[in-house]
Amino acid sequence: MTTLGVIGLGRIGAFHTETLSGLDGIDGLVITDERGDVAEAVAAKHGARYVATVDELLSSGVDGVVVAAATPAHAELTLASVARGIPTFCEKPIASTAVESARVAEVILASGVPVQVGYQRRYDAAFAAAKRAVDDGSLGLLHTVRSTTMDPAPPPLDYIKGSGGIFRDCAVHDFDVINWITGQRAVEVYATGTVQGDPLFAEYGDVDTAAVIVRFDGGALGVVSNARYNARGYDCRLEVHGFDDSVAAGWDQGVPLRNTDPHNEFPTGPSHGFFMDRFTEAFRTELAAFVEVTKGGPVLGATVADAVEVAWLAEAATESLRRGTPVTLEEVRNA
Ligand SMILES: NC(=O)c1ccc[n+]([C@@H]2O[C@H](COP(=O)([O-])OP(=O)(O)OC[C@H]3O[C@@H](n4cnc5c(N)ncnc54)[C@H](O)[C@@H]3O)[C@@H](O)[C@H]2O)c1
Repeated sequence: MTTLGVIGLGRIGAFHTETLSGLDGIDGLVITDERGDVAEAVAAKHGARYVATVDELLSSGVDGVVVAAATPAHAELTLASVARGIPTFCEKPIASTAVESARVAEVILASGVPVQVGYQRRYDAAFAAAKRAVDDGSLGLLHTVRSTTMDPAPPPLDYIKGSGGIFRDCAVHDFDVINWITGQRAVEVYATGTVQGDPLFAEYGDVDTAAVIVRFDGGALGVVSNARYNARGYDCRLEVHGFDDSVAAGWDQGVPLRNTDPHNEFPTGPSHGFFMDRFTEAFRTELAAFVEVTKGGPVLGATVADAVEVAWLAEAATESLRRGTPVTLEEVRNA
């Protein structure tokens, strides 16, 4: 049996605690948050043990730690857990910037302690099937990979302030997917964006709508689309086009689009509300995979090295938006 720690109990940390409390093979959860009141409430709801500090949690004999705190705390918390030799699951992104991600990755890789990163789409049945279709060669040469993430409404503006911007916070999911699906390395990025919603986005140097074009070294093009205001629902889709065939993930009955074709009723809805209901099963599979990691199994999801590649892509997109021109990955890596 396994005991896990969870650090950070906001939107995703509370959700992960709920998921973990329902997983087979877990016989204890120890949880903490900077906000004691929040942690106590989550502990009471899911039968977890609340401790007041991260130190106490890391000293409590847990077999693994889930870092689900706010992004600026990821690097420090993950390194503190790894320093004690504890297998760690870190929510995306692993650090606030690409430079910091690369530094954190170096320490983690030198430690030999397994770390899994929270890019849950890899565990979604439809995304995983799309990946298999690419890998078995049935699509032929890939030419276009299109990945969309649109939130029904923005998270609290305080969250946006510390998020690092739409590319480091939201588009990273798409970047991980297009890297993973193509198996190719990104070479050049052009990103653009606008603010039509809350003017605070602009004040924080962020945008509420973004589009990114990514050129890969193998010749594929990635097209990423993000929005923070998409009231019809949580729109998360992947389309992979090859010379011989094309596949789509996320074209289920809950895709939040109103089809204007009078002869076609698809989709029949209801629309996906948010990432929690769209990826409930993927989160469960992802965390079950992490439990296996705590028992000595391999990291089968996104690794720290994968997360660093994603971080460079997010960095290049952020820089491209700032400049209004394409930016090469080589340029940001060597800056
Ligand atoms: N994989 C996904 O789909 C997904 C979805 C949502 C959020 N996330 C990631 O999860 C992280 C948390 O997001 P959220 O939406 O839950 O944010 P949130 O603001 O709702 O919650 C963050 C929590 O972390 C706590 N916290 C901050 N610093 C801490 C520290 N040093 N020690 C202990 N607790 C600390 C805060 O008190 C807060 O309760 C973010 O990094 C985000 O990128 C991932």
